[in-house]
Amino acid sequence: MTTAPRRFIPTASKQNPMLTSRNKMKLGLFGMNADGGCAITTAPERHMGDDWVGMMEFCKTADRAGFESLIPVGRWRGFGGDSNFNGVAFETYTWAAGLAAVTDQIAIVTTSHVPTVHPLFAAKQAATIDHISGGRFGLNIICGWFGPEMKMFGGTMMEHETRYNYADQWIEIVQRAWNDPGYFDYKTESFNRTQAFAEPKPLNRPVLINAGGSPRGKRYCAEHCDVAFVILNQSDPDTTRKQIQSYRDIAAEYGKEIQIWCYSYCVQRDSLAEAHKYLDYYVNQHGDDVACNNITDQIGIQTGIFTAEEAERFRFHFKAGWAGVPLVGTAEMIVDQFQNYSDLGVDGICLSWLDYQSGIDDFIAGVLPLMEQAGLREKYIPRIG
Ligand SMILES: Cc1cc2nc3c(=O)[nH]c(=O)nc-3n(C[C@H](O)[C@H](O)[C@H](O)COP(=O)(O)O)c2cc1C
Repeated sequence: MTTAPRRFIPTASKQNPMLTSRNKMKLGLFGMNADGGCAITTAPERHMGDDWVGMMEFCKTADRAGFESLIPVGRWRGFGGDSNFNGVAFETYTWAAGLAAVTDQIAIVTTSHVPTVHPLFAAKQAATIDHISGGRFGLNIICGWFGPEMKMFGGTMMEHETRYNYADQWIEIVQRAWNDPGYFDYKTESFNRTQAFAEPKPLNRPVLINAGGSPRGKRYCAEHCDVAFVILNQSDPDTTRKQIQSYRDIAAEYGKEIQIWCYSYCVQRDSLAEAHKYLDYYVNQHGDDVACNNITDQIGIQTGIFTAEEAERFRFHFKAGWAGVPLVGTAEMIVDQFQNYSDLGVDGICLSWLDYQSGIDDFIAGVLPLMEQAGLREKYIPRIG
């Protein structure tokens, strides 16, 4: 089947900064499409997942400051407790499309649970968002680990190995939809169609991300993705270094390099004592232990990243910011912490705060200039027009 020539040839008007940024330490925001963001707490000033306007404003702030990425959490139901943590959450493809239209340079990422969406539909939505953004799209591929959430779609949750095998086939079809001209046939164990078709193609090659932490998850990530998005093991520097190297070693088997990103909870104050007081307030006094239990119980069983004991030890970090790394203290201390993570091999960190807007405002005023002085980031000069 052929089609008549078309006059319009779309081209990317922008680059994807997750792939092109030269900053030693890249920056993003994480979790801001869902209630609580990353903080498992009932503190009243926690982020509200349906505050589109407020969320759009701080995402635009990040864009104007030269941050590299906006990454939402893929979430379909909450974790219970008084906060029903993450229960109210925007769907991530449509969320990304909205933000693509109101931002200028930052990468807009969709977090997609592969069992919830057909790969052709995902590929087409992704290409559409890539066009809206001028070529700044990213796809965070998630297999699902929270049983009650996945059961909402298929009635069952696939077993660990099966999920990643399914995700192999899923991304293969997405890639074909993005790259194969005209009509194409595909036949895998889970998918079988003739004469598939997907136009337009993305403007730029979308950045691919995965957060697998088990040996199988790491291999999936290294084989298919540009970025490993990891829960950094915080036991000791040597363990962290080895964890990071393990992703790079597997990527090298595929002849690739891979970026390592993690995420953090940020509490910036004029003194360390004030920062700890604030953490004590929202984590110890207002932490939602029921929601936290529901997460740590499941994550220890369903994933390869934590044993049940490790998840238990990580409770404080979970409540403070989904077990992300702490960036806590004065602006100077936080820059030292960034330097430390950079020295360990981390390429990018997504930030979260209890209150994202005041958090990012303080960060841009206090931390960002010091990161530039330290050589962790170049000064960002916004484009005119
Ligand atoms: C940084 C990061 C972000 C993640 N985001 C999500 C998410 O948005 N939704 C989700 O269901 N799982 C998310 N996960 C879970 C992972 O997809 C994965 O299941 C988990 O890290 C366990 O790894 P494994 O699947 O290799 O056992 C995230 C994990 C990490 C480390």
